[in-house]
Amino acid sequence: MDAFNAADFEVQARERLDEGAYGYFAGGAGDERTLRDNIEAYARRRLRPRVLVDVSGVTATTTVLGAEVSMPLLVAPVAFQRVAHPDGEPATARAAADAGTVMCLSTLATASAQEVADAAPGGARWFQLYCFSDRGVTEALVDQAVEGGYRAVVLTVDAPVLGRRERDLRTGFAIPEHMEVPSFSRAIGGRREATLQDMFKLLDQSLTWRDVEILAEISDLPVVVKGVITAEDARMAIDHGAGAIVVSNHGGRQLDGVPATLDALEDVIEAVDGRVEVYVDGGIRRGTDVAMAVALGARAALIGRPVIWALTVGGEEGVRRLLSLMRDEIELALALLGCPTPEALGPAHVTPPNRHR
Ligand SMILES: Cc1cc2nc3c(=O)[nH]c(=O)nc-3n(C[C@H](O)[C@H](O)[C@H](O)COP(=O)(O)O)c2cc1C
Repeated sequence: MDAFNAADFEVQARERLDEGAYGYFAGGAGDERTLRDNIEAYARRRLRPRVLVDVSGVTATTTVLGAEVSMPLLVAPVAFQRVAHPDGEPATARAAADAGTVMCLSTLATASAQEVADAAPGGARWFQLYCFSDRGVTEALVDQAVEGGYRAVVLTVDAPVLGRRERDLRTGFAIPEHMEVPSFSRAIGGRREATLQDMFKLLDQSLTWRDVEILAEISDLPVVVKGVITAEDARMAIDHGAGAIVVSNHGGRQLDGVPATLDALEDVIEAVDGRVEVYVDGGIRRGTDVAMAVALGARAALIGRPVIWALTVGGEEGVRRLLSLMRDEIELALALLGCPTPEALGPAHVTPPNRHR
């Protein structure tokens, strides 16, 4: 496993995966403009370091939702991880726990919430929720999250219907019948080969802000609203009881043509005005990306595809290596920016848009 950064893992994973699986993990919606822009946005801005600051005790350690994490980088919810590696979500959970950060488990996981909790009992985990039309299924999922010791429900709100992912249409990517997707099996009362479109047909398209309030009432867990990219929706999220917000465009997989999340972040930060924590995902590939996102106001960033590439290449060990590389990169970025802690980062550490100095 000769990987020295997140990009190295993708090169190696691509060689191992078949076309359908690679396209599913790598792809985006429509012309993939937003997919590309998420990454390019980080290259459009520049960092502004301060020198002669004592960074001898630099640490990436911070907190999210009041709990300590080893770095401001969390593992994003990504579905069907056993398609990448037979050890799937339990392996990712163990690696995240060892790295001292949060793993967010997808509703469309190929392992149950309990199995993942048992794999890494000491780890911090959040549960990503898709609401099924059958409310019984949704409530059972939340109950399992509570029983499994998950510390937050992450409600994904940018996917009332599935984005148009043409790579999957071309390859006919489907989840084989032998691969268990516990939430789906429960919703259809059995198991069969299924495409992502088949699964999304079972989700509730009538969800509104009122459901955020209902969700906040059915358990004591904070509801993190994932998939907000406007100031208007950030305010709505807070008004309806969100415990935190993830600025996300689903990794460019839903509405193609929306802004890069880094570009959307500052508006959301301004609207939220410190009332709840704001996280961001999409296009994070380097420790310097994490530093930039935190400087612009994110409490932490989340990382999606690179975790899948690392899992594909090396299973649990691969994800552990990726997270360790990312943590080293974050600490290096902090030290070179003159910031002993993530909290020391601020907007003055990043150039304004369209100005490279
Ligand atoms: C293959 C794949 C599957 C995903 N599955 C889910 C999911 O089940 N639930 C969800 O909320 N987000 C899902 N996402 C979105 C991620 O949580 C995250 O927003 C995105 O991957 C971040 O962008 P990045 O991959 O550039 O880091 C998925 C993303 C990918 C690439």
